[in-house]
This record gives sequence, structure tokens and C-alpha cells, in this order.
Amino acid sequence: MHISHNDVVDPALYADEARLHQMLSELRRRDPVRWTEPSNYQPFWALTKHADIMEVERQSSKFLVGPRNRLKTIEEEERVRGKTGGNALMRTLPTMDDPDHRKYRNVTRRWFQPGSLKALEPRLAALAKEYVDLIQESEGEIDFVKKVSVWFPLRVIMLILGMPEKDGEMMHRLTGQLFSPDDPDIARQTEGHAIAEAGAELFAYYKDLLEDRRKNPRDDLASEIANAKIDDAPIAVHEALSYCVSIMAAVHETTAGAIAGGIHALSANPEQFRLLRSSPDLVTRTVEEVLRYVSPVRTFIRVAVDDYELRGKKIEAGQSVVMIYPSANRDEEIFEDSQAFNIQRTNNEHIAFGFGPHVCIGLALARAWK
Ligand code: HEM
Repeated sequence: MHISHNDVVDPALYADEARLHQMLSELRRRDPVRWTEPSNYQPFWALTKHADIMEVERQSSKFLVGPRNRLKTIEEEERVRGKTGGNALMRTLPTMDDPDHRKYRNVTRRWFQPGSLKALEPRLAALAKEYVDLIQESEGEIDFVKKVSVWFPLRVIMLILGMPEKDGEMMHRLTGQLFSPDDPDIARQTEGHAIAEAGAELFAYYKDLLEDRRKNPRDDLASEIANAKIDDAPIAVHEALSYCVSIMAAVHETTAGAIAGGIHALSANPEQFRLLRSSPDLVTRTVEEVLRYVSPVRTFIRVAVDDYELRGKKIEAGQSVVMIYPSANRDEEIFEDSQAFNIQRTNNEHIAFGFGPHVCIGLALARAWK
């Protein structure tokens, strides 16, 4: 397979799992730390090995997120710079380095610990039952992505933030426009910058919610964020609003993809589906295997502070590395028969939640389905 510089960022290729994994296997074999210069993106090193991604992720003082953390086209980067003077519309955990990263992560850390989530379990279970009932009532056919996989996590996160149920439709529309701007079903009809417009509407919504929670704190995540202190001073408004929006991001790119991808993997592997039905105690391993096999978060970026040698390649100070999680999670050096979907897999050390100081803060919640 010939692999061009543009292939590594081609959305069409990422939508074709078979071709994607053929490309990633070849990159792992032939050039696992590959200099890549796509036509409409700033250049980067593409990392495809599990060990290399972990090596970068664990060294958060040598590889920063502040200068660049997500793959954006040059055009999108310029629009963001024009609006903010920086490289991100919002100030969220994935865009912060220490010392700020640690301070802001501490604001919600307690909320996402398994102990705190335990208290929510009955409400989460009731919500899950609503969607199981919906599937049962659909008599054999349902648009699973539109009706279940996006909605269920959206409502879970709304419940955790403390948002009223009636705002669901609006949240669904706005978060869709912000995080899946190219989806023709939900794209915003505008001549302007669709992402920034949806972001501004979300900010206006959360501004009211946070003001209310400052006056009337409750036992919800919005109250925790609204009343947080950073260096003994109240959290800044922009950071508090960004925090709420970034928590909503967890629905679109991650949990919805994992749920839908998991159902897809089970349907494409009917013998695994049968096995799960006959041995429900395999559900925990199934969740981990779905996370590994689907790897819903595709990439994150780090920027080298100093020159760094990785697998014999010299990454120069200021250059970016793109960590391709679906590749790490099919690395044949780590996973036996790595392309197979196997719900009995043991020692499943996938990094679908990332690794190191930025590891997903919501991982216990995401795993709460098991
Ligand atoms: C299947 C579901 C999920 C997957 C696969 C996933 C994956 C990830 C990944 C790969 C990262 C980046 C880690 C890194 O840079 O090393 C991340 C970060 C993050 N995730 Fe998740 N996530 C999921 C669900 C959630 C949920 C449910 C929430 C919260 C409600 C959440 C909130 C966050 C936040 C706030 C960060 C930024 C952490 C930081 O930079 O310190 N995620 N997630």
C-alpha cells in the first residue's frame, strides 16, 4: 500500500476501518515515527506504536499541549488565531500545561472518582433502562446512532452537570454543531464560522447556569465548577465556561462512538455476540475490548520542548507529534492477534483513554456501563 502524506489525515480513510488499519499496520512496520507533511495541515511526526505514544504522554514537561493539541487544518488554525490570538477557542484541560493543568484538573477530579459516581448509579441505571426499553419497543429496527448512542451519554452528562432535561434537544443540536461540524444532518446553516457561533451559544447558556449555581449551589458538577477556586481566587469566567463545554465534548467524540462502535463490532462478529449473550459475566472484558478495538478518540498532539530522540528519529524542539490511538491499540507487539475483536481478551492494556497526566478524567464514568 502506498501511503501519501495526505492519507494520514484523510477523513475518508478514517471512515473506512479496513483501509485505515491496513495503513496503520504498514506505518507501524515500515516507519512508526513518520515525518508527515499534508497539504493543508502543519507538518508533524505520526506516532503509531503503543510504546512511543506512552513514552511521549508520560513526559508532560517535555511534550506540551499548549502550542498545539488537536489536528486542525491550516485554515481552521488561522480562523481561531484571528478570533483569539491563540490556538484554541476555549481554555480546557486538554489545552493546558502545568502548573495550570494540575490546578484545573483538581476542580473536578473528586467528582469523577468511582466513589462519587457510586452515588449516581441508581439514576444512571434508570436512564440506561429508558434506552433499553426504547430499543425493545422499536420492534427490531432502530437508528441506533441517532436515537441511542448520542442521546444516552448526552443525558448522563446533563444529569451530572445538573442541567434540566428540557434543554436536551438544544444541547444535542449545539454540541453536534460544535463537535461534528461536518455532519450534514446537523451542520449549522451560516456564512460565518459555524464552530465559533455554536460555541458562543453554548457559552451564553452556561453563563446563566453558572451564575445561578454561584447564587444557589447544589450537589452537581456545574456548582463545583461555578464555585471553584484557582490560587485562592474564584475561577475565571472564560475558564469555567470552557470547562462545561469540554465536559460536553466527551459525549460526541468519545462515548457515543464507543457505544455505536461496540454494537457494530458485535454485529460484525456474531460468534462474539452469541458468546456474550451466553456468558454475561464477560461484559467487563467486552467493554475493554470495545474501547481497544474502536478507539473512538483518534488523535491528540504534543509539541516537543527540546530536541528529542524517538526510535532513532530526531524530533526537533517545536515540532509536533500526532499520537494515533487506534494504531497503538492494534500494535501487534502488545496485543496478540491484534486485529481480532475478542471479548475474552485478557491483559488488555489499551490506551483508548490516553495515558499520563492528561489521561481521560471521565474514564470511571465511561466504564460505568459495565
Ligand atoms: C469511551 C469514552 C471516552 C474515551 C474513549 C475518552 C478518551 C479520552 C482521551 C484519549 C483523552 C486524552 C488523553 C490524553 O491526552 O492522554 C481524554 C481526555 C479527557 N476526557 Fe475522555 N474519553 C471518554 C469519555 C469521557 C467522559 C465521559 C468524560 C467526562 C464526562 C471525559 C472527559 C475528558 C476530559 C475532561 C479530558 C481532558 C483531560 C486532561 O487533559 O487532563 N471523557 N479522553
